Amino acid sequence: MGAGEIHLGKKESIEDTAKVLGSMFDGIEYRGFAQKDVEDLAKYSGVPVWNGLTDKWHPIQMLADFMTIKEKFGHLKGLTLAYVGDGRDNVADSLLVAGSMLGVNVHIVTPKPLFTHPDVQKIAEGFAKDSGSRNLITDDIEQGVKGANIIYTDVWVSMGENDWSERIKLLKPYTVTMKMMYMTGTPDDQLIFMHCLPAFHDRTTKVGKEIYEKYGLSEVEVTDEVFNSQYAWQFTEAENRLHSIKAIMAATLGNLFIPSVDEGSK
Ligand code: NVA
Repeated sequence: MGAGEIHLGKKESIEDTAKVLGSMFDGIEYRGFAQKDVEDLAKYSGVPVWNGLTDKWHPIQMLADFMTIKEKFGHLKGLTLAYVGDGRDNVADSLLVAGSMLGVNVHIVTPKPLFTHPDVQKIAEGFAKDSGSRNLITDDIEQGVKGANIIYTDVWVSMGENDWSERIKLLKPYTVTMKMMYMTGTPDDQLIFMHCLPAFHDRTTKVGKEIYEKYGLSEVEVTDEVFNSQYAWQFTEAENRLHSIKAIMAATLGNLFIPSVDEGSK
């Protein structure tokens, strides 16, 4: 249901909508805006609520992302993920926290004004202590990407924001280029590129065209070359959204039978 099709928070309180939806559905995935709204849906609907994206967090994306990384490398612990771009958006914060839960070293590579909020750093540090993740927040690209196995980026202007000119000024040096991929010093078969999508890597979209006309940039957070290179894993990552959300729904709706490896192969 799109925002134009329901009243959510406009003509009807979140609490009331939660009760209506909860009476009709077995679960609700909310991909919207305010984190508070998804929390209220969970509080009042009486059914499982999955956070499909809010202004604060992107947790289900994390499951698909780390599933993708495991698919490529066979393990997670000890790998290094360098997130290059807007260092305090919903995706960057989620990667820092999720990576810290899983023993992946997360480097947030971003200009100083976009450094991760201390509250989020604190959450990540709490998990990193147990998992052994060694995290880094830096504006130094060379230091930040060195040794990375995964170079990850996201759009420079996220939901609820609109100031492209300020972001372009800050982030232009942080575009993911082939030069940056080589700067990792990581062997080709141990290095991938990821992006949660949608991505501005060319001028084929309406917004991509507008950015080009206004700011002269035909590629924004990642070059078309990297996006289409041997390192590109963003479409496997996108496919894994399907498998991971199915798993979450199965796990949280109950009545899930998971056969053991032995039983499964009979
Ligand atoms: N940071 C992006 C994520 C898109 C999936 C946004 O909030 O628009």
